[in-house]
Amino acid sequence: MKRIAVIASGRGSNFQAIIDRVCDGTIPAQITCLITDNPSAYAIKRAENHNIPVSVINFSEYADRALYNQALENAMRECRADLFVLAGYMRLLKPETVRAFAGKMINIHPALLPSFSGLHAQRQALDYGVKIAGCTVHFVDEGMDTGPIILQYPVVVLNSDTEESLAARIMEFEHVALPQAVKLFCEDRLEVSGRKVIINDDQRE
Ligand code: GAR
Repeated sequence: MKRIAVIASGRGSNFQAIIDRVCDGTIPAQITCLITDNPSAYAIKRAENHNIPVSVINFSEYADRALYNQALENAMRECRADLFVLAGYMRLLKPETVRAFAGKMINIHPALLPSFSGLHAQRQALDYGVKIAGCTVHFVDEGMDTGPIILQYPVVVLNSDTEESLAARIMEFEHVALPQAVKLFCEDRLEVSGRKVIINDDQRE
């Protein structure tokens, strides 16, 4: 059975979606640890509720970014995970860290990449005036939100949308997309070929 580690900075509702699908047997894996850079992240409580070990690498306790990155990488190695899931991790990983865990790291982003990478993706989408927003799960490469795309879900933008209402509707699809991508990874059904991710035995074909 695959070992999953989750890296999250905040509320952790995407982390919870993975926990739920592991608990009900949908995802054939065990969650071996939560790593967070934020000692007050609600994600910690979610881990504790399910007896998942937590590793807090408190960004503000490190003298500089290099020391923080080293501590984060050490914590990641200690997890001995087959897959690292960035579920609302709000910092950029160092290229060295990305290379060290190449092909083993996925991220959820609240926009249809390659549009609206980085922070406040939902606000960027609203400000731009797009009619379709959504979410993307992708492998992590050295760029910001640029890695090969695994799954995307579209969400229609309404006239009445605010950043909050749009984010909430996108979030419903995040909670579907991220566990689905984790499941595909754990079933060894994802094959990366250049920029493309091939889903083997894709039920939609
Ligand atoms: C989610 O919307 C996730 O897509 C986003 O942060 C939120 C975390 O929510 N991630 C990014 O914007 C990464 N650039 P959660 O803590 O409830 O899962």
